[in-house]
Amino acid sequence: MFTRGKTQRTNRPSLGGMDYVDPVKKSGVKRKIVFAACLVMLCITMIKLSPSFGSPSPFSRHEAGVTHVLVTGGAGYIGSHAALRLLRDSHRVTIVDNLSRGNLGAVKVLQNLFPEPGRLQFIYADLGDPKAVNKIFSENAFDAVMHFAAVAYVGESTLDPLKYFNVIGSDPDGRLGEAPRPELREHGRISGACFDAARGITNGLKVRGTDYKTADGTCIRDYIDVTDLVDAHVKALEKAQPGEVGIYNVGTGRGRSVNEFVKACKMATGVNIKVDFLPRRPGDYAEVFSDPSKILRELNWSAQYTDLEKSLRVAWRWQKLHLNGYGPSKV
Ligand SMILES: NC(=O)c1ccc[n+]([C@@H]2O[C@H](COP(=O)([O-])OP(=O)(O)OC[C@H]3O[C@@H](n4cnc5c(N)ncnc54)[C@H](O)[C@@H]3O)[C@@H](O)[C@H]2O)c1
Repeated sequence: MFTRGKTQRTNRPSLGGMDYVDPVKKSGVKRKIVFAACLVMLCITMIKLSPSFGSPSPFSRHEAGVTHVLVTGGAGYIGSHAALRLLRDSHRVTIVDNLSRGNLGAVKVLQNLFPEPGRLQFIYADLGDPKAVNKIFSENAFDAVMHFAAVAYVGESTLDPLKYFNVIGSDPDGRLGEAPRPELREHGRISGACFDAARGITNGLKVRGTDYKTADGTCIRDYIDVTDLVDAHVKALEKAQPGEVGIYNVGTGRGRSVNEFVKACKMATGVNIKVDFLPRRPGDYAEVFSDPSKILRELNWSAQYTDLEKSLRVAWRWQKLHLNGYGPSKV
């Protein structure tokens, strides 16, 4: 505590009533000021020399010869495979995902494969949040959008049916796979259910509906390998023109029954999966397969990789090597 008053003692000598600073102390202060100024200059120089200073992030500007694609749902099954293909084709990719379904592990695999600056960025955001979406679009310069974000399980969709073709398989080089969260298992797709049964995670496979008007009584679907599906998207991207709309069916054009699928799954896994036959599931049509003639005609695309047993064998290989999928998915 100090008090004001005539008696207050000060270390500063007084010269004719003026404040006077001791020259020895003065030069000490000067040194400190010069040192601080040098330090500040050094910091400014270092920041200026850093590659990101002054130049905006590569994601925020268009670059000749580089296509920047926003992949929504890129942590999910199809989106992650699409991102892999785009990165392999030297495109720049921004993944936006709220991780409600997908796997951060899939994004990490991609980041490890393409660590160079300006190749891949991940933005954790919900597309249902307009503020977040506006910010993403104002801060990034996209050339195209591939939209895969969705709540995509058939079981859930029966309240508000959508149309589905069934995607199977995984990256032939084994870097990505299909890894639905354990809590979503009961809504999962037939390939996941087959693999779970083959691994003994579940008691067996439940086939719902054997009295459809089809050759063997089970539903018929058009199964397409994820590599083919992504390839169709890339073909569409190559041909896309601003203001032009193209809507295509992406499938093989060939329907396969659930019984055929199960047989292929048994062959691919080498496991004699136990099958329980149950009543029909609400929302299922007897027979759904695509007419891919338009995409062949306009984009010269047709499925090249889809082979039920082979596609399942590739996916099974990934499953066996990733018993816990991508592990926990936390941001
Ligand atoms: N897998 C199939 O058999 C199949 C078949 C036909 C069509 N599709 C369609 O393909 C798309 C992708 O399917 P998938 O199998 O990869 O599904 P998925 O569940 O593996 O991936 C969907 C991704 O979207 C994300 N997502 C969901 N809501 C979001 C939101 N509001 N904001 C940000 N991210 C969000 C999830 O976290 C997830 O990573 C879907 O539109 C689906 O309907 C899939």
